[in-house]
Amino acid sequence: MKALVLSGGKGTRLRPITHTSAKQLIPVANKPILFYGLEAIAQAGIREVGIVVGDTIQEIRQSVKDGSSFGLNVTYIPQEAPLGLAHAVKISKDFIGKESFLMFLGDNLLKEGLADLVQEFKDKKPNSQILVSKVPNPQQFGVVEVDGEDRAVRLVEKPKMPQSDLALVGVYLFDSHIFKAVDEIKPSGRGELEITDAIQWLLDHKYQVICKRVTGWWKDTGKLEDLLEANRLILEGIKSHSDTASQVDSKSKLEGRVVLEAGAQILHSTVRGPAIIGKNTRIYNSYIGPYTAIYHDVSVEESEIEHSIVLEHAHLKNVHSITDSLIGQRVEVIKSPATPSAYRLMLGDSSRVEIP
Ligand code: DAU
Repeated sequence: MKALVLSGGKGTRLRPITHTSAKQLIPVANKPILFYGLEAIAQAGIREVGIVVGDTIQEIRQSVKDGSSFGLNVTYIPQEAPLGLAHAVKISKDFIGKESFLMFLGDNLLKEGLADLVQEFKDKKPNSQILVSKVPNPQQFGVVEVDGEDRAVRLVEKPKMPQSDLALVGVYLFDSHIFKAVDEIKPSGRGELEITDAIQWLLDHKYQVICKRVTGWWKDTGKLEDLLEANRLILEGIKSHSDTASQVDSKSKLEGRVVLEAGAQILHSTVRGPAIIGKNTRIYNSYIGPYTAIYHDVSVEESEIEHSIVLEHAHLKNVHSITDSLIGQRVEVIKSPATPSAYRLMLGDSSRVEIP
């Protein structure tokens, strides 16, 4: 069995971060989202992985390389434009060949591994196996209507009036009949070839589609709130660990579960976990609160921050206090002594700032 990981798309809901970077590479608990999926695929015993990529191909290739660090053999499949999940399947036909495959959306995070799902698919040999999860906002997902025995009967992509609260999770298993389905369907109103329509085609043509419910948590990290929640859920499970090359001075306190990566320095500060402080990041005279992930080479001075993600090379100085935030690469947030005392901003396109 092979795997297809979808890492193209535009990530419009995470602008401005995604103006310059791939959304699948945003770190959650200091690890790119995409890596969690690749690790789960390797753990499920799959070796051959095709990664569908768009404009951010270089960045994704630079971090994943040939996949060998994950125990995978990765092939990159360029998609000319984000023309839909079923379009991504269509262009991957040569790579997949006649085998069955697991399709994984590169911005999805799933607590349960993939091994049991893959095994069940191999044992039962349906034409497709899909996963669903109850959500409060089904209109933002592919929605699956099921019968009394939890069998899928209808799938609709982002319906205005959802008839079910079951969202289609971004983990799918298919045999080669899906290639016929993606050839038969037409682009939706938003101009995309929808995977929901392709699965509906399988149902309409009496192919067997097994529908399963997610047992642990699942997150589509396409929006800031979901990204922060995914960060919280992963940090919830961390164990304290300090790399031998990290430093905590006698004026500092680590409370609860805290991970310090190599070269992290905690000086005159309190870090209250669960939190993770990245490589060569320096925290000085500051408070880092629960559910915060600070990536590598960041500097935080005289500041307070919690429930946030800070990306590499950012610099925070004299800011009280930051919460529920995503701070991009090389961003500076500083309190300025200059007069007049006012906000001075240089924000990228589509930035959002909330001021008390
Ligand atoms: O997360 C689950 C949801 O994912 C499902 O419930 C929906 O049925 C499904 O359409 C999808 O909805 P999203 O709006 O979240 O899809 P998004 O555009 O974010 O794309 C998901 C991933 O696939 C993301 O990593 C980008 C990649 N992608 C997307 C498109 C449209 C591609 O590689 N190529 C594409 O053409």
